[in-house]
Amino acid sequence: MILLKVGNLEGLSRDRGNCVESAAESIAVFHVNGEWHAIENRCPHRDIPLDDGPVIAGEIICPLHGARFDLRTGKHQNPPAESDLKTYPVRIVGSELFVVMGKKT
Ligand code: FES
Repeated sequence: MILLKVGNLEGLSRDRGNCVESAAESIAVFHVNGEWHAIENRCPHRDIPLDDGPVIAGEIICPLHGARFDLRTGKHQNPPAESDLKTYPVRIVGSELFVVMGKKT
């Protein structure tokens, strides 16, 4: 298990996605209803980042064509996306937020 640091909680955006990169993946972290959610930062339709998309009712909306994904489960909700996204557990240590790598949910 590897902890990938997202940042200090006070410095993270609660209005939009926070992007963090590992060696192999880009991950977007969102704050929704008092909880943090980490999700693969790549729309499976055209491979674009999702961290700039709006969040409505717990779903991230792809800024290009509007596919929606549940931030808790990664499940795609509508076309044109045809596959789900990986999600990751998060952990708060002191005042910092981390994504737990190697433990996909
Ligand atoms: S690129 Fe995301 S729905 Fe098309």
